[in-house]
Amino acid sequence: MTPLIELSGISKTLKGQGAPRNVLSGLDLTLHSGQSVAILGRSGSGKSTLLSLIGLFDRPDEGRYLFCGKDISRISERRAARLRSDEFGFVFQRFFLLKQLTAAQNVAMALVNGQGWLSRRKRRARIMAALDQVGIAHLAKHRPSRLSGGEQQRVAIARALVRAPRVLLADEPTGALDTETGNLVVDALHASTARGCGLILVTHDHDHAERMGTVLRLGEGKLHQAGPRVRA
Ligand SMILES: Nc1ncnc2c1ncn2[C@@H]1O[C@H](COP(=O)(O)OP(=O)(O)OP(=O)(O)O)[C@@H](O)[C@H]1O
Ligand SMILES: [Mg+2]
Repeated sequence: MTPLIELSGISKTLKGQGAPRNVLSGLDLTLHSGQSVAILGRSGSGKSTLLSLIGLFDRPDEGRYLFCGKDISRISERRAARLRSDEFGFVFQRFFLLKQLTAAQNVAMALVNGQGWLSRRKRRARIMAALDQVGIAHLAKHRPSRLSGGEQQRVAIARALVRAPRVLLADEPTGALDTETGNLVVDALHASTARGCGLILVTHDHDHAERMGTVLRLGEGKLHQAGPRVRA
């Protein structure tokens, strides 16, 4: 089957105020539908840079990016924005929930752009299904201030899932949570793969990484299989 994502020979140099830094160099990655991949790596190794390339927030300097077999390495910003909202869901360490809105209304925000044609009833059904998928349908009417950190992160995951993305990208989604709460969040993310979603989880937590089907480590600009010693 054609992979969802195929990266080959990806290189990226970041130019900031200091000297330019070659963060990724000749990186390869394949992600299939229903596959879950954890990415470990020390701080500054380029994990967030990699996710921003995959999520089309930025473009590689070199290399090829195939999405569902189509070369999107050099697509326009307009097409990138379209793909980003149609095919990708994003979850970050910070939840970015609007505090004056309920859980359901926060999830609804993801349907405002592009999918306004859905009837009210269909929209409501999709929102409730997304909340149910992460186990918090009963909290639909709660505002973030009445939710725990783990519950808030699950609202953020429901918001990412409500448009049925093909790929879910999570950058340290458990960074602000204790291990036990983090486990619930990782389970909620992992559940999306049962519906064929591809999942990439960037984490510093080895236990969370272990729950993914594939565990990789980013180092020297490339992804390596995380060996048992690294995974211990
Ligand atoms: N605009 C920029 N210009 C130059 N260097 C940058 C820029 N943005 C990030 N960097 C550097 O690129 C490297 C990779 O950053 P990145 O955020 O991808 O790392 P990371 O693996 O996500 O780290 P962490 O685990 O701390 O989140 C870091 O050394 C960072 O300092
Ligand atoms: Mg990062």
